[in-house]
Amino acid sequence: MLILGIETSCDDTGIALYHSERGLLAHALHTQIAMHQEYGGVVPELASRDHIRRVLPLIRQVMHQAGAGLADVDAVAYTQGPGLAGALLVGTSIANALAFTLGIPALGIHHLEGHLLSPLLASNPPRFPFVALLVSGGHTQLMRVAAVGEYELLGETVDDAAGEAFDKTAHLLGLGYPGGPALAQLAGEGRADKYKLPRPMLEQMHKTGNLDFSFSGLKTAVLLLVRKQAPDAAARADVAASFQEATVDVLVAKSLYALEQTGLNQLVVAGGVGANRRLRERLDREAADEGYSVFYPEYELCTDNGAMIALAGALRLGAGIATPTQGNYAFTVKPRWDLSTLVS
Ligand code: KG4
Ligand code: ZN
Repeated sequence: MLILGIETSCDDTGIALYHSERGLLAHALHTQIAMHQEYGGVVPELASRDHIRRVLPLIRQVMHQAGAGLADVDAVAYTQGPGLAGALLVGTSIANALAFTLGIPALGIHHLEGHLLSPLLASNPPRFPFVALLVSGGHTQLMRVAAVGEYELLGETVDDAAGEAFDKTAHLLGLGYPGGPALAQLAGEGRADKYKLPRPMLEQMHKTGNLDFSFSGLKTAVLLLVRKQAPDAAARADVAASFQEATVDVLVAKSLYALEQTGLNQLVVAGGVGANRRLRERLDREAADEGYSVFYPEYELCTDNGAMIALAGALRLGAGIATPTQGNYAFTVKPRWDLSTLVS
């Protein structure tokens, strides 16, 4: 079965073709970073307009790469939420129009389900059940994943997401958008033990087993530090390294604790912050010490992409739990959509 995947929830247009037996045949991505950079963040209206320009040419491109035609496609999977309403509408309406024209199902996919299943596309995939750490610009969650569609929330952020904390801290240090990768790079030049920053909600975890996260206090601590010191370039690198280490400390400790609590031994890390090298280094080392295995998507599939959406569609159809459009192709988007409400 051949699935076309369409992702337009934020600032990346991602298109992919996934075959249920042959795997990922082709994928293409257009990132809008350069366009939003001068505004210091994503401008929703510009994002929607750019998705309109990109979706069809990218579909043609992946079709060509895979040597396939539209007539070969068996279903269209698209990100239905969560995300920016206008951006979601672009992918959703094109997916439904295509599916209607071809007389095939259209499947609305939850963006985070795409992220948490994305390590299954790697050459060494995990097996169900596993614990998933979802760390993106909009979400920070620990989930117990029993099977496709069976997700139990173990903990989540009560304020900022981890990626958001990276982005805001980067902004405080005068780095551009998106801040995460730039901050990580600067951190590589600094000393992580230079500034003592808080490790939010770690103490609670040891006392009560709570697996929630909080990053806004950490960001405020950096703000106070930067205001007090007006750091030079070397001190900025030290702040970046100290911030990164504090964030990674929390993510690693909570992930290992989730494995211990659930009795599972595989951890899947997904979402943009999963591309962070320091996080990977620390997780790999500390998980191995405890006898756990850690799985990541390929680097290029850590951030938003169409491949994870096509994969989620294929797995849902394969497991018989998809609810594709039947007959009428009326559609809605779900800008706010809680993953734990996903009906399997
Ligand atoms: O999953 P994603 O592409 O989009 C969302 O669904 O949010 O994640 C983007 C987030 C941004 O906050 C970005 O700064 C962060 O992931 N990010 C990183 C790194 N690469 C991307 N954060 C830390 N280190 C990185 N290397
Ligand atoms: Zn994402």
